[in-house]
Amino acid sequence: MSNGLRQGLTSYGDTAFSLFLRKAFIKGMGYSDDALDRPIVGITDTYSDFNPCHGNVPQLIEAVKRGVMLAGAMPMVFPTISIHESFAFPTSMFLRNLMAMDTEEMIRALPVDSVVLIGGCDKTIPAQVMGAASADKPAIVLPTGPMLVGHFKGEQLGACTDCRRLWGEYRGERMSGEDIERANERLVPSVGTCGVMGTASTIACMMEALGLSLPGSASIPAVHADRIRMAELTGKRAAEMTKGGPKPSEILTKDAFRNAIVMLQAIGGSTNGVVHLSAIAGRTRNPISLETYDEVGRNTPVLVDLKPTGQHYMEHFHQAGGVPRLMQELKDLLALDARHVAGGTLGDAIKTFEDVPGQTVIRPRTAPLKSEGGLVVLRGNLAPRGAVLKQGAAAAKLMQHEGRAVVFDSVADMTARIDDPSLDVTADDILVMRNAGPIGAPGMPEAGYIPIPKKLAQQGVKDMVRMSDARMSGTAFGTIVLHISPEAAVGGPLALVKTGDRIRLDVKARRIDLLIDDAEMKKRQAAWRPPPVPEVAQRGYAKLYREHVQQADEGCDFDFLARPGDKT
Ligand code: FES
Ligand code: MG
Repeated sequence: MSNGLRQGLTSYGDTAFSLFLRKAFIKGMGYSDDALDRPIVGITDTYSDFNPCHGNVPQLIEAVKRGVMLAGAMPMVFPTISIHESFAFPTSMFLRNLMAMDTEEMIRALPVDSVVLIGGCDKTIPAQVMGAASADKPAIVLPTGPMLVGHFKGEQLGACTDCRRLWGEYRGERMSGEDIERANERLVPSVGTCGVMGTASTIACMMEALGLSLPGSASIPAVHADRIRMAELTGKRAAEMTKGGPKPSEILTKDAFRNAIVMLQAIGGSTNGVVHLSAIAGRTRNPISLETYDEVGRNTPVLVDLKPTGQHYMEHFHQAGGVPRLMQELKDLLALDARHVAGGTLGDAIKTFEDVPGQTVIRPRTAPLKSEGGLVVLRGNLAPRGAVLKQGAAAAKLMQHEGRAVVFDSVADMTARIDDPSLDVTADDILVMRNAGPIGAPGMPEAGYIPIPKKLAQQGVKDMVRMSDARMSGTAFGTIVLHISPEAAVGGPLALVKTGDRIRLDVKARRIDLLIDDAEMKKRQAAWRPPPVPEVAQRGYAKLYREHVQQADEGCDFDFLARPGDKT
């Protein structure tokens, strides 16, 4: 049963007095007893002038409030931190767990009977759901929605896949300074999240499959009137959820996580989806092993034709029917009886869908883009705890490749030398970058998209095997092995590679191996010394982060935040 303002009244011993005091303060805001006697729906406010992906949050909040009040409950907005990819030094990933802690503790502290989590930019919804899963009050996700498609010289553009492509053109001197400036104004033509199947869109789609957001909510453009209506509907549903849930613990079952992985694979989603979903699962009784992603991927075709791996943008995915339409194609792979925030099951939630004749964005099962999923999990002596490769975004001819390692010791080392004309490198070599993992960088930057060395790019080389313990933006592409665990900074085998060593990538066998013998490996291991702790990590949040962040295979959550026990 909901108990609104009466929740958690223990601070002063005398419960009646505590309520009296609480009401005295809140009445300072002008509320009536009628308003305060109702169940309370909390709404997270993640608006920030530094977060254009959340630029529509004030409007969404208004609509959520309307929905809550139409359903007879009381909406109360509260702020949490907000993280944008470009405005989060050193990385947004570094701050994700802080946002998760903030969100969890506010949900727990405030007298809310249910909560609407309004997020969008890459790390925000994962952080909110991690927090909400631990606080375990009824919660529903409302994504801010994707930005509109941009246009430049008759071409369609979307952040940030095209940011990278155009910058590559400019860097290769195939685009003028004037044109790159103009394109800069066209890449992000509205508020909202990146318009391709990057991390933000990947997470939003997975939320529908996981059962935490209403059907259709992933793809409606941020500035579309339907997005406002979706906010109102989410508010109504949150009000209903004050009376009996469901709570995250009732939604986040093994089946629900598998459904989210089917979605991740079928959309050719971001590699970051693996890290975040694993972190969310780590907060529940149902942690996910990396093998589950691979196993589901082997049976799940890629059906959505969106950049960075395909042609279209999120706006087009929406016009083609969005996630509910896609799920029609995937029904046999989904656990349709999984519980859903919409009220019934996932099967009930996707009963209504739009079938758009002639659309080519969502492929039928008979004509998939790829017969196997987009993401594969690799293991081998270079990655004993796993690594991830986005097969859908990689060159087919590099899927089995042996080459000579060209090693960069850090992101800074790579940046300093990659374009040096004297760099000893050929297109058959394997570029290795390290000390860019969760602890090494710190914050596991999206630096895994190692650029093709300038002198090779000028010769027309478009792809090479690249590998690191970093992450990669969901909007990037290439034959790139990521999230190598354990990372170099904690002494993972990646730390032991030397320029000139041979490395073999065999995607079919799911292997990544350094071709040296065990004795040599042991010798190098014995000689390895950990890098010194940087001064900034000797106090404060950076110290907490460094001492407690887990490796990528466990989602980079803090060890003390993950649910103890039940490890698979
Ligand atoms: Fe926010 Fe891409 S920068 S979603
Ligand atoms: Mg991103």
